[in-house]
Amino acid sequence: MLRKFKKLSRIYLTLYIRQTLKFLLKRVILVIFPLSFLFIISLPPDKPEIFFEVKDHSVKTHSYLSEYKEISTLHKRFESRKFKTVLNNQRRTDTSHLTSLNFLVLEYDKIFGQTKYCQYFKKTENNYEKGKQKVYLDECPYRNCIFTCNHSLINDANAILFSGPDLENVKFSKQELYENLMSSIIDRPSQIWIVWNDEANKVSDELDIFKFNWTMSYRLESEISDCSYGCKYPKIGEIINPVEFKKEISYQFKSRNNTAVWFVSNCDSNYRLKFASNLKNYYPIEVYGSCSKYVQSGFFESLFDYFKPKKCGRDTECEYEKLIANKFYLSFESKNCSNYMTEKVWKMLYLGIIPVVIQPNRQFYELSLPQNSFIHAQDFDYDPKKLADYLTYVSSDFEMYYSYLKWKLDYDVVFTGYQNEKRRLCELCTKLNTENSIIYYNKVSDFFNDQCIIN
Ligand SMILES: *[C@@H]1O[C@H](CO)[C@@H](O)[C@H](O)[C@H]1NC(C)=O
Ligand SMILES: *[C@@H]1O[C@H](CO)[C@@H](O)[C@H](O)[C@H]1NC(C)=O
Ligand SMILES: *[C@@H]1O[C@H](CO)[C@@H](O)[C@H](O)[C@H]1NC(C)=O
Ligand SMILES: *[C@@H]1O[C@H](CO)[C@@H](O)[C@H](O)[C@H]1NC(C)=O
Repeated sequence: MLRKFKKLSRIYLTLYIRQTLKFLLKRVILVIFPLSFLFIISLPPDKPEIFFEVKDHSVKTHSYLSEYKEISTLHKRFESRKFKTVLNNQRRTDTSHLTSLNFLVLEYDKIFGQTKYCQYFKKTENNYEKGKQKVYLDECPYRNCIFTCNHSLINDANAILFSGPDLENVKFSKQELYENLMSSIIDRPSQIWIVWNDEANKVSDELDIFKFNWTMSYRLESEISDCSYGCKYPKIGEIINPVEFKKEISYQFKSRNNTAVWFVSNCDSNYRLKFASNLKNYYPIEVYGSCSKYVQSGFFESLFDYFKPKKCGRDTECEYEKLIANKFYLSFESKNCSNYMTEKVWKMLYLGIIPVVIQPNRQFYELSLPQNSFIHAQDFDYDPKKLADYLTYVSSDFEMYYSYLKWKLDYDVVFTGYQNEKRRLCELCTKLNTENSIIYYNKVSDFFNDQCIIN
């Protein structure tokens, strides 16, 4: 009897376990599977942030000052007095109305809709006590600049920073804004009004009324112009073994395709789209982005391209893979403006893909980029066939290819907002400490609109 019962209970037990397992399995299939499917499809399809590992020693205090000397020499070469008044050695760099030697910078408006560098601090006995680490100036030789967004401190501010595009977008008249400012400011002559504008778009002459003291832009004539979209700096820290380096480049030479890639999503500029279309007749080009349809050799290709799944978004893994799998990038700017070269060209240098450029003229690239790091269509009389022949040559000759990457032994480049701004704010702070001329722009719109062709 007992044995029978035991046997029975064993049977029941196995049955029970089996049932439970079945039940669980069903639940798994019914619930967990669709749930995980939902989870997978709800994940964002692309991971941004591939390029943006932050190297924190991109400004080294000791090397910065010698770099800064180079930047200042460059500024001097481009010192154009056409648009501004400069009174040498007339600015006091001491800040007598503050007892400390801090420079207070008021961010007057938002910068592309954001408050950028505002710090929280309290005023104690005419001294500013910082409440937040100054991440931007950590490695700068001058770290005594603090940023606020508090308009009540307007008369304590040594400098006021205005964002040009945001200022143009305010709804009311600039005249009104200017008069408001002037009625609340006690000592305008000792204040530095800075306008920040990195766009190569036309600047409205409504901004002229502010008689800005300094500009912060990509133009080398600007008081603050270092690293607007990216910059190079002498390699610090790690030492590269040249033999190993050449081996690595030789590996890349063999593994990278002989293709020029291009990601383009602003179709306004006709010139560059036409140039790429012509170039495509002689050298393989892969174009991504919403304007790719304009860079086709014929009807059938466009039709074929239309059906080909070629989605490859900006700053995605897909983009990254395309970039590091090819030898050249068409870094064609949408505008032909002095000194105007956007972060794309810097990013390509960073990734070891040789940028092919058409505008602005060669001299501007030479001033900023590492030596022999780019190919300029100007050297081929803007003839797509000649340029393509040269690309074919560089694609097939390792020493030629290597000559365009050799600069990496001596220089690093940065191209992300965070890294660029560290250098830009460092230049701003250095200037506040050292610039001893009185400067103001009589017509800031002329300055920005000069030497800029939209083609
Ligand atoms: C702005 O500054 C004024 C004057 O120091 C101070 O009273 C006020 O609390 C500050 N506002 C903010 C939001 O910090
Ligand atoms: C390189 O070119 C080959 C042949 O055209 C092509 O199949 C391959 O997908 C290309 N590789 C990349 C990463 O684009
Ligand atoms: C860009 O402008 C410069 C200066 O005006 C001119 O010399 C050059 O030919 C232009 N480049 C192109 C590609 O149109
Ligand atoms: C700033 O510009 C104003 C005119 O807009 C001028 O009066 C003042 O002297 C300038 N200040 C400095 C320090 O350059």
